[in-house]
Amino acid sequence: MTFSPEQNPRILLNNGQVLPQLGLGLYKVGQDIGVELVQAAVEVGYRRFDTAALYDNEFEVGAGLRKCGLPREDVFVTTKIWNDRHGFDNATEAIDESLARLNIEYIDMLLIHWPCPMKGLFVETWEALEKALESGKVRGIGVSNFNQNHLEELIAHSSVVPALNQIELHPGLQQRELSSFNASAGIATEAWSPLARGRFNDNETLLGIAYKHSRSISQVILRWQIELGNLVIPKTSNPDRLAENIDVFDFSLDHEDLKQIASLESGLRTGPNPEEFS
Ligand SMILES: NC(=O)c1ccc[n+]([C@@H]2O[C@H](COP(=O)([O-])OP(=O)(O)OC[C@H]3O[C@@H](n4cnc5c(N)ncnc54)[C@H](OP(=O)(O)O)[C@@H]3O)[C@@H](O)[C@H]2O)c1
Repeated sequence: MTFSPEQNPRILLNNGQVLPQLGLGLYKVGQDIGVELVQAAVEVGYRRFDTAALYDNEFEVGAGLRKCGLPREDVFVTTKIWNDRHGFDNATEAIDESLARLNIEYIDMLLIHWPCPMKGLFVETWEALEKALESGKVRGIGVSNFNQNHLEELIAHSSVVPALNQIELHPGLQQRELSSFNASAGIATEAWSPLARGRFNDNETLLGIAYKHSRSISQVILRWQIELGNLVIPKTSNPDRLAENIDVFDFSLDHEDLKQIASLESGLRTGPNPEEFS
């Protein structure tokens, strides 16, 4: 089935941008398939794409979107500044490099990929993002993997509050406190590794809920993310799973389902700890 992009709920950010809630993650999408995958995703209704300098596929994402021929304002692209480009000058250059690779006039959402607290440069790096925002190179700026203490420091020393915080969030790491801090500061929460990279594919609890709704486990997890109000960016390179993952807007989880999913919290991290990663 092909989805109308209008079925994808819209999330209003603190800067006035309105984003489709579910987009496509592109980590580990190789250059050999990037262009075709973006085109296939657009075909089934995706309008938002999450890449990063680290993923080494910005060029292909931009090329795929240009090939689709959609008006520029109908698609949303996020990219991120990698850890070795912290600092004002370094980040400023990195932004121009990402823009050149994407070749799509402007970046919709630019994130600091990790806070790298040991480097002590995220406030200075943020100034480069603020400048890119002023100049129109980017339309929105945000962060990724920031804990509450990092956000408090950033907000205290800058003039733009991040539009979103992209964090690891799935049934095994539900991030209730950080999400609620984000919300209290007007920052949208975006879930990365929303499917916990397949760690719940055989989970009995989720299997029961999936069976009840005649859906897959991935669809149940993504529906849970949608109902929490998270922006969410599942990754797949498989055309059938592209369609499956966006087919989550016509069913609802009930109170019992939510209670059972809540019980899956275990502190599971599939990625690094933001306090330590540099
Ligand atoms: N900001 C950050 O630090 C950060 C870190 C990690 C990720 N991210 C972003 O978040 C995105 C998503 O995270 P992720 O890629 O780590 O993990 P994920 O989306 O939780 O899981 C992706 C994995 O699940 C499989 N999969 C996808 N849909 C499926 C389905 N319906 N049924 C069964 N398996 C399915 C994929 O395999 P197939 O491809 O074979 O389907 C892939 O192995 C990334 O692509 C990236 O854009 C950001």
